[in-house]
Amino acid sequence: MNSEALAFELWTLEKNEQAKNLWSLEAYQHELAHPDSRHFLLRENGGIEAFILYRVLLDELSILHLAVRHKGRGWGERLLNAFISQLSTQDPAVSDLLLEVSQENKAARELYLKVGFHQIGIRKNYYPDHSDALVMKRSMKG
Ligand SMILES: CC(C)(COP(=O)(O)OP(=O)(O)OC[C@H]1O[C@@H](n2cnc3c(N)ncnc32)[C@H](O)[C@@H]1OP(=O)(O)O)[C@@H](O)C(=O)NCCC(=O)NCCS
Repeated sequence: MNSEALAFELWTLEKNEQAKNLWSLEAYQHELAHPDSRHFLLRENGGIEAFILYRVLLDELSILHLAVRHKGRGWGERLLNAFISQLSTQDPAVSDLLLEVSQENKAARELYLKVGFHQIGIRKNYYPDHSDALVMKRSMKG
């Protein structure tokens, strides 16, 4: 699948959500066309059910975005656990995962805590809806 087609599929997966601060189609296209852009997909019956967009710089991995097609069915947790376990074998140079999440996004915050992230900072008034971003980190060293 080329990056344009993937951008459209990921945007479609998420756009039915009522969540705030969703990525636009242009944001997906822009990110996926970038040479440093990487992604991890969970599929069921051939269709994408959940995804992570990320970049790696030296030993640091930044998760830029993630989403699931159907919320509250364990896909988010499976997605992150599968991603982390694959990283430890395929990308052992990565020592830390970093991400930003809106203070208002309780589901995502709780999910990140559950899979081992902790808060290391805060960016005030960061999102288009003016919510603060929590900066969270997870060490790959356990
Ligand atoms: C955030 C998101 C990925 C969670 O995925 P999900 O598949 O619904 O989550 P899961 O069913 O795997 O739940 C795993 C854990 O996350 C937490 N969680 C999930 N939904 C929650 C909610 N509505 N309220 C509080 N905690 C929640 C819980 O700790 C849950 O564990 P539990 O079931 O033992 O209570 C999903 O809501 C989503 O795609 N949101 C839109 C995009 C988004 O906000 N991405 C994050 C950008 S930073």
